[in-house]
Amino acid sequence: MTANPTRGRKIYIAPSVLSADFGSLADGVRLGESMGGDFIHLDVMDGSFVPNITFGPKAVHDLRPVSKLPFDVHLMITRPESYVDVFCDAGADYLTIHYEATIHVHRVLAAIAEKGKKPGIAIVPTTPAEALRDVLPFVKIVLVMTVNPGFGGQTIIPRCLKKVQTLASMRAEEGLDFLIEVDGGINRNTIREALRAGSDVIVAGAALYENADPAREVAFLKNPW
Ligand code: DX5
Ligand code: ZN
Repeated sequence: MTANPTRGRKIYIAPSVLSADFGSLADGVRLGESMGGDFIHLDVMDGSFVPNITFGPKAVHDLRPVSKLPFDVHLMITRPESYVDVFCDAGADYLTIHYEATIHVHRVLAAIAEKGKKPGIAIVPTTPAEALRDVLPFVKIVLVMTVNPGFGGQTIIPRCLKKVQTLASMRAEEGLDFLIEVDGGINRNTIREALRAGSDVIVAGAALYENADPAREVAFLKNPW
């Protein structure tokens, strides 16, 4: 029996429909809710910022009535400033942009907040957590990519989890209250390290959608001790 380092901290599971059947995405969203997910994680990819293409605001809009869970929309697109309004109007609750995708990060985060949505910032594996120091007061969630963005089912880059610890320290030092989210390669083998590092929100795609008993898996990811 290992001590539970998350005692007292709420852990959110965000099933990523990237690993669901795109022929029936609505079923993937319903399954994300019925398996016990807390957020639905929606990965928007443009074929430019990342070498893959998924879906745009119409899909988010059409999926919105399917679930009452918050939509956690992860924009892996260049020039996110051009798409803030449409994704907010489509039903994003958290709207996360990449730090590497625009020069005017603060302006884009402010635009998301102006729309009444929760702004988020994401970093790829080689962007240091320290780069976010001046961004942190303006976000409700920080997404630490633990694989190179673009595809589900990849193997975690363990070094990325150190950034979760750094972000948790910065949050305490500055008295801020954003959530820390990890995305990529999280499964029953890597979850303990992710939680020990201080993650609040766990994105999981392959681990949940390629699982015969995803509800059991969600319960395990929430409490693997
Ligand atoms: C990858 C996406 C992830 C992806 C994670 O670029 O941002 O959300 O779905 O998938 P898994 O959990 O399978 O690594
Ligand atoms: Zn994602």
